[in-house]
Amino acid sequence: MFSFDIEYKDSETSARAGRIKTPHGEIETPIFMPVGTVGSVKALSPEDLNNAGAQIILGNTYHLYLRPGTEVLKHFGGLAAFSSWNKPTLTDSGGFQVFSLAELNKITEDGVSFKSHLDGSSLYLNPEKSIEIQEAIGSDIIMSFDECIPYPATYEYVKNSVDRTARWALRGKNAKKRDEQALFGIVQGGIYEDMRKRSAEQLTSIGFDGYSIGGLSVGEEISTMYEICGYTASLLPQDKPRYLMGVGTPEDILTCIGLGVDMFDCVMPTRNARNGTLFTSSGKFSIKRADLAFSDEKIDENCSCYTCRNFSRGYLRHLYKAGEILALRLNSIHNISFYLSIVKNSRNAVKEGKFKSFQQEMLYRLKNNN
Ligand code: GUN
Ligand code: ZN
Repeated sequence: MFSFDIEYKDSETSARAGRIKTPHGEIETPIFMPVGTVGSVKALSPEDLNNAGAQIILGNTYHLYLRPGTEVLKHFGGLAAFSSWNKPTLTDSGGFQVFSLAELNKITEDGVSFKSHLDGSSLYLNPEKSIEIQEAIGSDIIMSFDECIPYPATYEYVKNSVDRTARWALRGKNAKKRDEQALFGIVQGGIYEDMRKRSAEQLTSIGFDGYSIGGLSVGEEISTMYEICGYTASLLPQDKPRYLMGVGTPEDILTCIGLGVDMFDCVMPTRNARNGTLFTSSGKFSIKRADLAFSDEKIDENCSCYTCRNFSRGYLRHLYKAGEILALRLNSIHNISFYLSIVKNSRNAVKEGKFKSFQQEMLYRLKNNN
């Protein structure tokens, strides 16, 4: 069964250190969740993920519904068993991917019709269908079907959408059959504080196992993102986990932990790894840089990942320039390990009562940019 316990609360910020229990194991928060959209974190095996310190990975209802489909997933006993990850998984509801990836046809009160980005076939998702697919996937934490409101959007549009997202969240909760899965509601409301408040009140009065903050990092200013994130987090129940969806950079994660967020996911560390961009405690850099050809340095002297224990920047540059697939794996191992070290170190700092100074020092060093 699902539970969330807060073990430490920071006295200077809103940061918390907690523990989530799921049927597939425990998760120490704050946590970063690597994105495994189609049931694999690109370039990484479950063993690589374990060694990098991953505790939970994310899958996408939209993609897994298109391929391999619910019958295959059910046959293999759900995504965790199918992929041999066998640890906690979380799925997004499809309410974002339908809007961002598919060719959208129509949003109605009942749901959304769209065309598959794979073969153009006509498909349909609604709150009940999304829950049914997530039950077949068997993820430990599932999301309500929502609309991620585009930015910018008028007040009137946001209001209608927020109210519909609340009606969809209630329908999803009523459709849910499996007790062992935790269901989160997703707070929307664009950049309007009163709409965020309205959405948070609607969802908390329905009651969910946790609350996601959606509709951020969609084009608004970073300072606005932080303001809305902090404001929204402050409206949510203290004793439930808070998940900021699709965010972000190392700076964003450190900042939003301080605003009271417990869970994060983002394609940034894996996608950037495959583009040759590596994150370090003193900023990010491109492994393609000519001046790295003779570099004996590790990616990050402070990192103890498999890549940093074994390979120089010079060798990694060579692999990347030569188009070797090992480059993608080694870069991904480092970036995921780095992201997981940020949340782990944040958690330890909260436990030791020094999160604020840790956060400020990290943010200062990250600005350097190698
Ligand atoms: N991923 C990033 N943002 C969102 C959002 O607003 N809703 C959903 N369902 N997923 C997201
Ligand atoms: Zn490393």
